[in-house]
Amino acid sequence: MPQDNINDLNPYLHGLYRPVDREIAADRLDVVGEIPRDLHGGYFRNGPNPAAPPTGMHHWFDGDGMIHGIWFENGEARYANRYVRTEDLNANGASPLGGIFEPSTDAPGRKVHYRDTANTDLVFHNGKLLALWYISGQPVAVDATTLETIRTETFGGALPGNMSAHSKVDPETGELVFFDYALYEPKMWTGAISADGELTHFQEVDLPGPRLPHDMGLTENYVILHDLPVIFSEQAIRNRLWQIHVADQPTRFGVVPRKGGAPKWFEFPTCYVYHVINAWEEGDEVVMTACKMVPNGFDPDARYGPYAAMADVLALRAQPFRWRMNMKTGQGCEEQIDDALSEFPVVNCDLTGRKTQYSYHVVFDDCIEQRFSGLLKYDLETGARRRHDFPNGVFGSEPAFAPRVGATEEDDGYLVTFTADLSGNSEAHVIDARNVDRPALARVKLPQRTPAGFHGVWAQGI
Ligand SMILES: [Fe+2]
Repeated sequence: MPQDNINDLNPYLHGLYRPVDREIAADRLDVVGEIPRDLHGGYFRNGPNPAAPPTGMHHWFDGDGMIHGIWFENGEARYANRYVRTEDLNANGASPLGGIFEPSTDAPGRKVHYRDTANTDLVFHNGKLLALWYISGQPVAVDATTLETIRTETFGGALPGNMSAHSKVDPETGELVFFDYALYEPKMWTGAISADGELTHFQEVDLPGPRLPHDMGLTENYVILHDLPVIFSEQAIRNRLWQIHVADQPTRFGVVPRKGGAPKWFEFPTCYVYHVINAWEEGDEVVMTACKMVPNGFDPDARYGPYAAMADVLALRAQPFRWRMNMKTGQGCEEQIDDALSEFPVVNCDLTGRKTQYSYHVVFDDCIEQRFSGLLKYDLETGARRRHDFPNGVFGSEPAFAPRVGATEEDDGYLVTFTADLSGNSEAHVIDARNVDRPALARVKLPQRTPAGFHGVWAQGI
């Protein structure tokens, strides 16, 4: 196969995933329906968008981060998209770091071993967006009103290492509670940045071996770290290659006091978890809800040639579960909430770390690519669910919950998401979170396509 055609077979560069090549801004967008006047704030979604066409083997995680944003105020909407200008993107081809199909290397003065794209997740902290990366990279601060990159964020030089995607903001204290992990050493770290940007806590946690977690849980008093059985082989660690496998070992969750202290580890039947729904405390118990992976049931798809294994691994299929960990007795138990398949769960972020009744997930078209054909709203207490289907041939993004201005109830607000169809049309949909099975209240026409991507966030009132 000629090398210059290899990416013709890469499913994450075509169709819904095809990158866009313009950074634009537009206001007074056309709307079908009506934007609620009590919707005020911004919805932002991160995702990979290679700035230059990849020439070698290209992984979905390798694409340069691009943020698409839409702001709502007084029944009107404006849109912009901008690259996250990481050190590697700014190096303009001169970075020593490559993508994750290549052996990892080092970059002087940095603790990353692969090209750091900051393409995975966003948190809104201290008035700014922070773009975060899956493989724990350098956070990048982004202006939440323009999406212009401000700087690679070190918090005044105090951040000792990196910061993983899915670090979380405590809505009551405004603290950013983060985790970091090493690819080749048996260590993980957790810490906190105050509401005004000062590093206030940092601690190291020892592990039985190097681990590849994806998310963490946050409660009022604890961080829940994940020791999961998807790991690098010893050969991969020796040769610094991205070769993961499922090890025959239990899943462990480590409950660490946020103010510092030894983790209390709880062992559960083996499983992998990408995304936590939410976590909280109930008496002596720390409770974590998350989407537990189940085998996806697909055969590697020969259409994708050398990318068949990547597409197979990335076909997320999971069910909602709850884990209870008793801090007094050390006993844990696992409960299944429902058997429907869903992923990319979000909650009302004003209740991160506090007990939530509702969560919102995406559901997939029945194919190996990640095509989000609808949303589920869960009642996490009963497992009851309601479904929102996007129009035929239209696929969504991870939504964010936007509280209605003046809301006092948990689900009094809107779900906002970007959609795209295969003809290149995109919209932002505003859905009533209390009546998710009804059609969108507003479909805002976007001036360009939003390629399929990763995680979204809502920032109220900006
Ligand atoms: Fe994620």
